Amino acid sequence: MILDARTGLIDVTYIIAIVLLILGLKKLSSPATARNGNLLAAVGVFLALGITLLDRDIMSYGELALGIAVGGAIGIVAARRVQMTAMPQMVGLLNGLGGGTAALVSLAEYLRLSSIAPVRGGEAVSVVLGTAIGAVSFTGSAVAFAKLQELLPGKPVQFMMQRVLNALLVAAIAVLGAMMVTGNDTGSTPWFVFAVALALGALLVLPIGGGDMPVVIATLNALTGIAAAFTGLVLDNEMLVVAGILVGASGTLLTLLMGKAMNRSLGNVFFGAFGAGAAVAVGGAPGAAGAPKTVRQTTAEDTAVALAYARKVVIGPGYGLAVAEGQHAVRELAQELERRGVDVKFAIHPVAGRMPGHMNVLLAEANIPYDELVEMDQINGDFDSTDVVLVVGANDVVNPAAREDPTSPIYGMPILDVDKARNVIVLKRSMGAGFAGIDNALFYRDRTRMLFGDAKKSLTSLVEALRSV
Ligand code: TAP
Repeated sequence: MILDARTGLIDVTYIIAIVLLILGLKKLSSPATARNGNLLAAVGVFLALGITLLDRDIMSYGELALGIAVGGAIGIVAARRVQMTAMPQMVGLLNGLGGGTAALVSLAEYLRLSSIAPVRGGEAVSVVLGTAIGAVSFTGSAVAFAKLQELLPGKPVQFMMQRVLNALLVAAIAVLGAMMVTGNDTGSTPWFVFAVALALGALLVLPIGGGDMPVVIATLNALTGIAAAFTGLVLDNEMLVVAGILVGASGTLLTLLMGKAMNRSLGNVFFGAFGAGAAVAVGGAPGAAGAPKTVRQTTAEDTAVALAYARKVVIGPGYGLAVAEGQHAVRELAQELERRGVDVKFAIHPVAGRMPGHMNVLLAEANIPYDELVEMDQINGDFDSTDVVLVVGANDVVNPAAREDPTSPIYGMPILDVDKARNVIVLKRSMGAGFAGIDNALFYRDRTRMLFGDAKKSLTSLVEALRSV
């Protein structure tokens, strides 16, 4: 009877937690409700964790407390220290740890269960998939982290017979898995599955260029969710199955969205070695080879005059705004312009910055109203009626080569069509390239003026200059 009541309480709590997770995810789809969504999902996870600890005799509470204290302390220090610009690698790393955990838990549960009775059939399928997918996600994420952190070259690392080797590793996992499922585990078989999958994860991500890392991280995120769902099946824990499926599904959707935003198919990302031929062409010819290039500079004072007399201004932020930590300065500039009756909007490119939603998060931190943030697809039709576009620390996402130059490594990636505006003012420190390492023809166009300097300093100077216009 007591057992029944306890089981009932656990089931109901799991259902509440699942509903909270789903509602939380739903609310994450708009910046206006994202904070609440995060909170709801956190409450859901907290409930699920709490009730699981009450439910299961997993290990002593002392050991659990020690694990939580050590893990929590590392997490708090890492989260506090990480720079906003290093967030993608942090997310990648945490995601990988999730995959590694799912793999180890599957493996451990298999070893425990098989010491009682042979494990085969469907249960063994879940173990093999949970272990293999989790391990792939772990090392794949570790390599993605190392690339973004510049511990490994961002360019594709390629060697002979790479694809053949990967295919052999996949085949090896299939054979080892079949041995486990049919009850022919030699004792070390699950460890081989784990080891081969670890190698496969690293080898799959090594040949992918840094430019494709957004898609890769979203894919690995989906894999971690799927691994967790299989681990949930092994543990017979519905909560973990549902949470894993939610992460797997949202990671898959994010992968598709990122792929669409960069005009890259998954096959292309994983087997195309993006960036392999992308020479750093800073100072190279924009468009026709040998074409004369003129860069027109401007000053904060001249820019302030252009802004003050504009009716419509669009600000296109990019990674450099995050580096400069210029989000508060750009809000002040927008407010100053709005006080003068100028219509100000922010154009948001889906892969501006270094992580999905980077610009949304950055601008939200400075309390820039959500209705001023306009997605690329919505704002692109407005540029030809825009008086001034301020490109602040963006480069690749405004590079017309993506539209016009079929030989460009970013050809086909949708961009913010800022070059169609009447005046374009680019705030950056130099003629340096962006993430893709290529020159930008926008900087040499007749309507473009360069305002060189750190974005935050330039924005602050603009606000001061504007006040005296
Ligand atoms: P980027 O093309 O990387 O260009 C950023 C520009 O900011 C640089 O050219 C740099 O020029 C300038 N900059 C850096 N520090 C600055 C500072 N303190 N003040 C002013 N300017 C500064 O950025 P983007 O246009 O946002 O494009 C994003 C790129 O990253 C895309 O290629 C995308 O595919 C890739 N990527 C995106 C993600 C996601 S999910 N968002 C993840 C990984 C990679 P100077 O050095 O001359 O100042």
